[in-house]
Amino acid sequence: MEDFISEIKKRRTFAIISHPDAGKTTLTEKFLLYGGAIAQAGSVKGKATARHAVSDWMEIEKERGISVTSSVLQFQYGGYCINILDTPGHQDFSEDTYRTLMAADSAVMVIDGSKGVEAQTRKLFKVCVMRHIPIFTFINKMDREAMDTFDLLDDIEKELGIATCPINWPIGSGKEFRGVYDRNTKELELFYDTRKGTVMGEVKKVPIRSEEATQSVTSEQYEKLEEEIELLDGASAEFDQELVSQGKLSPVFFGSALTNFGVETFLEHFLKMTTPPLPRMSDKGEIDPMKETDFSAFVFKIQANMNKAHRDRIAFMRICSGEFQAGMDVFHVQGGKKVRLSQPQQLMASERKMVETAYGGDIIGVFDPGIFSIGDTLTTSPEKFAYEGIPTFAPEHFARVRQVDTMKRKQFIKGISQIAQEGAIQIFQEFNTGMEEIIVGVVGVLQFDVLKYRLENEYRVDIRMDTLPYEHIRWIENEDIDMDRLTGTSDMKKIKDLKDRPLLLFVNDWSIRLVQERNPGLILSEFGRS
Ligand code: G4P
Repeated sequence: MEDFISEIKKRRTFAIISHPDAGKTTLTEKFLLYGGAIAQAGSVKGKATARHAVSDWMEIEKERGISVTSSVLQFQYGGYCINILDTPGHQDFSEDTYRTLMAADSAVMVIDGSKGVEAQTRKLFKVCVMRHIPIFTFINKMDREAMDTFDLLDDIEKELGIATCPINWPIGSGKEFRGVYDRNTKELELFYDTRKGTVMGEVKKVPIRSEEATQSVTSEQYEKLEEEIELLDGASAEFDQELVSQGKLSPVFFGSALTNFGVETFLEHFLKMTTPPLPRMSDKGEIDPMKETDFSAFVFKIQANMNKAHRDRIAFMRICSGEFQAGMDVFHVQGGKKVRLSQPQQLMASERKMVETAYGGDIIGVFDPGIFSIGDTLTTSPEKFAYEGIPTFAPEHFARVRQVDTMKRKQFIKGISQIAQEGAIQIFQEFNTGMEEIIVGVVGVLQFDVLKYRLENEYRVDIRMDTLPYEHIRWIENEDIDMDRLTGTSDMKKIKDLKDRPLLLFVNDWSIRLVQERNPGLILSEFGRS
């Protein structure tokens, strides 16, 4: 077998998802600390720049003071080569966030122990479920007053519809937090605050009834622990690697990223339970990285105008099989020609560096002279297959957009089309008119600001934007639909995409249901095909 297969086997590529403030940045930073990629926590996360520090690496983002992209970090730990895909949270939320999940093989969900499942987690989770990738839960901030542990698990099961299997179990929370009980070894891992987590903590495991344990755990806490474990053993799902791999069972861990507690334990278990690079579907069937020897990758994100002086772009791709060498020639399937992948870049903590070689499972960014689109396949395989496209995710905010100066129509169309091609926004048209009226759909409202900013700064076009009341979009799956005969509701809107495919906009769920009832056989979908 080729040498690089052993490299691919070491890869673990996952996305980290959470609601803002649950502790995703802190946990990521602690992973880097344990992976030796940074010497001391806090070194990449200064107080002043706290929120965006580790993964906000692009000047352009810093200039704008907003984070518009998802970043990738690579580090080594315990013989594994780990790629973390960061997914920006709250107002930064965009389609990129969803697409990032398409490039990952598993997801780590960080939940604030005092809050349970929150809105953003729910949205991202849907994509993980659609892809059936393994999902691991880290319940964070146990050093603060947390919700009842069973309530937390119930919350995950009900809200997200996935079974949970706690690998460890917390003893107290907040001031009373004493550590976690390992259900497998039946040992206690005692909680130490490692100088607010600036240095790596020692994992101290002691037998449940040892002298050391009884010194810190009170007899009430023992009693409660015993009761809870008994209840848990009877009620919760047993660990089943097969179900974990299918994304049907989420292993749950407890800890406190800020104080480094539980981070190493989580990493060790997670790395054993998660998957090496997974096979991907193509038009020639499944491509398995453990068997396919040729290089192949797909583009999941395009970042424009990294350098203001040139209108250049970086295409981020997930390598699915084989070995990548800097400057290699590959076949760009959708473009139908050979291209040289130049200036390949990879990220190491906060630095960007050139890559010489990379393997299946890795993410690289390559210079894009404007030829790549989201979902494109690159390969050296003589078979020239194309990976399954990346679905278009339903935007939730809509606005009618027009240029202020009618003389700038051409520039406006060019700008808005290019930005749409990068996948930051989706553009639609009124159903019965031409390009006159453009309707823009975005996943997060911040994208409206980004669009306005970029049209003004990069294309010198001022725009007027009128937000529309719609919140839901549905693609019509029926091939032979007669749009004139469709019975809608008064607040529904018919639009079409640039490929002339019909879509519907709705104000609320109720309206969607009504339209479905009124039009038997109508198939509506939340995800579009690219
Ligand atoms: P995010 O990326 O998910 O948005 O969250 P982030 O890591 O930035 O953490 C949000 C806040 O929660 C930060 O506090 C962080 O220090 C704190 N935090 C993270 N993990 C823990 C934990 O395990 N325990 C406790 N008690 N706090 C935690 P901040 O005050 O907003 O920022 P900072 O000034 O501390 O950097």
